Amino acid sequence: MSKYFVTTPIYYVNDRPHMGHAYASIHADVVARMFRMAGRDVFFLTGADEHGEKIAKAAAAAGESIQGFVDRNVAHFKDAWRRLDVLPDHFIRTSDIQHKAYVAEVLQRLYEQGEIYSAEYEGLYSIGQERFVTEKELVDGKLPEDKDPPLLRKETNYFFRMEKHRQWMAEYIERNAKLINPPGFANEILQLLAEPIGDLSISRPASRLSWGIPFPWDETHVVYVWFDALLSYMSPLTRERSFAHWWPAANHLIGKDILRTHTLFWLSICHALGVPPYARLHVSGHLLGFDGRKMSKSLNNGVDPLAAADKYGVDTLRYALIKEVRFGNDGIISEQTIEQRLNNDLASDIGNLASRTIAMIHRYRAGIVPAVEPITQRGRELQAMAAPLFDRLLECAAEMRLAQGYEYVLEYARELNRYVNESAPWELAKSEGNCARLDEALYTLHNGLRALSVLLTPVMPAKMTEMRAGLGIAREPLAWKMHPGDNDAINDSIRVASQMAPLFKRLS
Ligand code: MSP
Repeated sequence: MSKYFVTTPIYYVNDRPHMGHAYASIHADVVARMFRMAGRDVFFLTGADEHGEKIAKAAAAAGESIQGFVDRNVAHFKDAWRRLDVLPDHFIRTSDIQHKAYVAEVLQRLYEQGEIYSAEYEGLYSIGQERFVTEKELVDGKLPEDKDPPLLRKETNYFFRMEKHRQWMAEYIERNAKLINPPGFANEILQLLAEPIGDLSISRPASRLSWGIPFPWDETHVVYVWFDALLSYMSPLTRERSFAHWWPAANHLIGKDILRTHTLFWLSICHALGVPPYARLHVSGHLLGFDGRKMSKSLNNGVDPLAAADKYGVDTLRYALIKEVRFGNDGIISEQTIEQRLNNDLASDIGNLASRTIAMIHRYRAGIVPAVEPITQRGRELQAMAAPLFDRLLECAAEMRLAQGYEYVLEYARELNRYVNESAPWELAKSEGNCARLDEALYTLHNGLRALSVLLTPVMPAKMTEMRAGLGIAREPLAWKMHPGDNDAINDSIRVASQMAPLFKRLS
């Protein structure tokens, strides 16, 4: 069985989850569910990044112990994923004993291999991004994405010999055209790799920051948060799951602001460890607020994911997030964009189609779905249109192009809506002579909705369960494929539900 290991970034738990986090987690959840439905062996990993100065600072500002503070925020994240129907197989915390032991073991190994050395270092440090920055990156004395300017720091640090792996990284990225998706981001990194990148400072003096994993041979230093965080993609694999089984199938989902750490840092660490890198790195753009600027708390231009789920429904939010902003591009998520998706795609193209079809099956066939094969060219065409959607959606999902994949699905839904008007079952019902045509129309619509219910289940699991109950197929196994003319699908005892509440309520 083919394997798929999907990860989200492990989120800083200095606050509650926001829409940017929900965007990555919902994408990961949808592909995990879809590949699982298609029979693949899937492992979905997410978690919490608990160390570093950003967290220590936030805990101090909240007047709480750091441990208490992260425990509380981790609970918010876990709760948010439950509420948004995001079901990871494992939630890694970087404070897990097993993770700390893994990081210590990796450090010891790299130290013994001569990949780590100690030196005096002076540089500008951004707490917001948790990394040293270069003068070149600054605009008006600070990083554009930071509130505060970086701090000048001079201290003895342990360094990882990152520069040594530069040439290899450039070649690896060039040889593996699919490693970084979309490929534009690979070019950005290749440009950086064309010049020296230096070595990576991977320690902080415990005297300044004791919150972190101590170096195994030197307790006066703790591990740099990014070195610790990246290893969280591997540390859970040693316990319950075998590294050899999952690692070659690793697909990381990240935002473009953490592209450098996932390439320069992570590729060089993998190479030093003698393990092949992840299979794919899928890089998203940024969600923008209603004003077209990057969503952020300080601009107050965002939508809170849990508030949106309460207002519009969990499945509507999940759908709007994957459909509205193509992975890799920046895009606006606002109350208005979510409402448009709800009204147009969900309430009208899908919900209304289902209600009308169920109502007509009641009115004209006493609730029993006619068991027929299409007889007209148009009927056969509609049935044939559904079949390739399953594979096409899987292909899109493998490239993290869910918005595009679901556009094909929605096109099919729109085609079925056109067919309702074109076949006009209410006209056919007026004469006995059109009995076979009416059977065909009702069957074709029901069968089309059945396909839609399967295709949309990974995004809207709860709503599609409701829809399948309405269609009278709740007990049918949720098989991923659908073949045109598949006789298994023709069953003369399907009875649609006596009533179904509107699946999606339009908001105006
Ligand atoms: N802890 C690190 C990741 C370590 S992974 C080994 C981190 N955490 S984060 O909580 O700050 O960000 C997590 C993800 O959220 C990043 O991929 C980031 O790109 C994403 N987003 C943060 N704000 C965002 C938007 N406004 N829009 C989309 N995603 C953005 O970085």
